Amino acid sequence: MKTLIEFINDKQADFPYASGEFTRLLNDIGIAAKLVNREINKAGLADINGYFGTQNVQGEDQKKLDVFANDCFLAAMRHGGMVCAVASEENDELYTYDSAFSQKGKYVVAMDPLDGSSNIEVNVPIGTIFSIYRRISDSGSGTVNDLLQQGNRQIAAGYVIYGSSTMLVYSTGHGVNGFTLDPSVGLFLLSHPDMTFPEGGNIYSINEANYIYFHEGVKQYIKYCQQDDPATLRPYTTRYIGSLVADFHRNLIRGGIYIYPGTKKNPNGKLRLLYECNPIAFLAEQAGGKASNGYIRILDIQPTELHQRVPLFVGSKAMVEKAEEMMKLYSE
Ligand code: AHG
Ligand code: MN
Ligand code: MN
Repeated sequence: MKTLIEFINDKQADFPYASGEFTRLLNDIGIAAKLVNREINKAGLADINGYFGTQNVQGEDQKKLDVFANDCFLAAMRHGGMVCAVASEENDELYTYDSAFSQKGKYVVAMDPLDGSSNIEVNVPIGTIFSIYRRISDSGSGTVNDLLQQGNRQIAAGYVIYGSSTMLVYSTGHGVNGFTLDPSVGLFLLSHPDMTFPEGGNIYSINEANYIYFHEGVKQYIKYCQQDDPATLRPYTTRYIGSLVADFHRNLIRGGIYIYPGTKKNPNGKLRLLYECNPIAFLAEQAGGKASNGYIRILDIQPTELHQRVPLFVGSKAMVEKAEEMMKLYSE
């Protein structure tokens, strides 16, 4: 079976940015993922569950594993020297590497080191999400502007899902490939080549407890999902884990839509553009799916802040288009 590194090396010729450096960066991400995976597998045994006692910039309580995962990925990318700056959910400001070595790095990364961290204690799948851009500044420390690029300029994006098995799924803009970690040898092996959304889907994933706060278009789409119409596989079925990575991964394999809409209280929803929505949208499009904020393509939104939030509708193309149709029809 092909390993992640063999696969990356084979694909180098496919895209202009493929260089030994880029391969090294993906490899570094893979190494950090294995370290995080090791700790997650032990969670519950050692004193690694629970709160760290601090909050991130969003006012969310940081878990010990949030902090561990953040440190791990930041360290892995420091040693490689390919990355000059990182925007992370767990760092208020842009994180820049000071060494002359890293300041020559051509890439910047946006990441959610641990996604779904409220699920850590209950053995439910969690993940890591990453997004890679070429820097636009010439030299020195990376800048916030390097990170405020539209998602359509990503040169690679991916996630790691720490689930019943651990997988790394990524794209460099030439389709989506998934690798399963064989824990006995510590290698990611190509298990899911060329992942694509199935034509039809019948899963919808949304935190319906917020129903009363939803936009009328979202309410009508939920109603549509629940109607009886066997020809279109309706009524659909609901699956909601509460880890974006896990919900997206399942919907990618089975066919479905994930929605985290804006609400009356939070018109921009909850998910962050740079390190949640953009990378997931990039993967969705590469897998033949679609991602929008209900009106326009996620990847065309111009970011203005590192921790900016946007509503997310992502999944099988036809399902996202139907939800967009409802958003237009019932515009408020
Ligand atoms: P994070 O753990 O990185 O803060 O992300 C949690 C996100 C996302 O993974 C998930 O889909 C969503 O929050 C769940 O939110 P609700 O609990 O509001 O449904
Ligand atoms: Mn997250
Ligand atoms: Mn997180």
